[in-house]
Amino acid sequence: MDDGPEIAIAGCRAAASADPEDLYPDPDSELLVAALRARGRRAAMVSWDDPAVTWEAIGVVAVRSTWDSVDRPAEYLRWARHVGEVSTLVNPADVLAWNLDKVYLADLAGLGVPVVPTRFLRPGTSWALPPGEFVVKPAISAGGRDTARYGPPHAADAQSHIRRLLDRGQTVMVQPYLPAVEDPGEMSVVFIDGRFSHAVRKGPVLQAGAGVVERPWERMTYLGAATPSSAERDVAQWAAATVERRFGPLVYSRVDLIRDRTGEPLVIEVELIDPYLSLSLSPGAPATLASALDRCLVRTRSAN
Ligand SMILES: Nc1ncnc2c1ncn2[C@@H]1O[C@H](COP(=O)(O)OP(=O)(O)O)[C@@H](O)[C@H]1O
Ligand SMILES: [Mg+2]
Repeated sequence: MDDGPEIAIAGCRAAASADPEDLYPDPDSELLVAALRARGRRAAMVSWDDPAVTWEAIGVVAVRSTWDSVDRPAEYLRWARHVGEVSTLVNPADVLAWNLDKVYLADLAGLGVPVVPTRFLRPGTSWALPPGEFVVKPAISAGGRDTARYGPPHAADAQSHIRRLLDRGQTVMVQPYLPAVEDPGEMSVVFIDGRFSHAVRKGPVLQAGAGVVERPWERMTYLGAATPSSAERDVAQWAAATVERRFGPLVYSRVDLIRDRTGEPLVIEVELIDPYLSLSLSPGAPATLASALDRCLVRTRSAN
């Protein structure tokens, strides 16, 4: 009898040189595996790039902590398309492809969703630095990689940061620095199975003039469970619903917001690939996500 997982939770290796079984620690996935097992499902965490995994033998593959996707996006999207063809990928490959490159913020802005004002610089274009403090980051990134905050005294550093990213062929984003990231902080609103689940407040990570730092994701501070204002909840819902209108229902999504100078929430990121969901901060969330994945498995089986 086949005793492989019915539902695989996809993560990544602890380091590029690590064995595929040596997974990057992910407390969300541990809670999710436990919740699936509590429902009687065979569930296991696997590395997305593990050559030993037979994806077609798994009913549902849930993307969770594939955090090195941004280091090799083309390979990652090939994997996602393949898994989407031979199994049920959650979220689906089309959603992942759209969400991997933050030019999607321009799509959302075009549909009226309030997003952080962003200038996208592409290789070959000329640019001028904005006045005041601003942030430079690549359009394909996560965990604050290659992201830095500058002000007028750091113009030369900012220029060379932009040039370095463009020379690597990356699209560069330049945004005004939003000081509300320090107080009240960034708000992450989590939706599971199309419904508001919970929200978390995060502390700031960027220091003016510090430039790009090593392993920035380790500096991210989650300040704890938070209650979004009605405006924050509305904007987050608006962003999530806009994506669902295009791609269909999403099993999970996280919308990150920072307030502008007038206090209006702006979308800084819609995370549909591998958002950290802070499941430990919301007692019912692991079971809700497990039951949504369970339904995906039942649907997959009845379709085959
Ligand atoms: N425009 C901005 N104003 C203030 N802080 C920012 C801004 N852009 C990014 N940051 C900080 O950098 C972090 C990482 O940037 P983000 O856009 O969320 O990219 P990612 O999380 O995909 O690396 C944010 O969580 C926030 O702390
Ligand atoms: Mg972010």
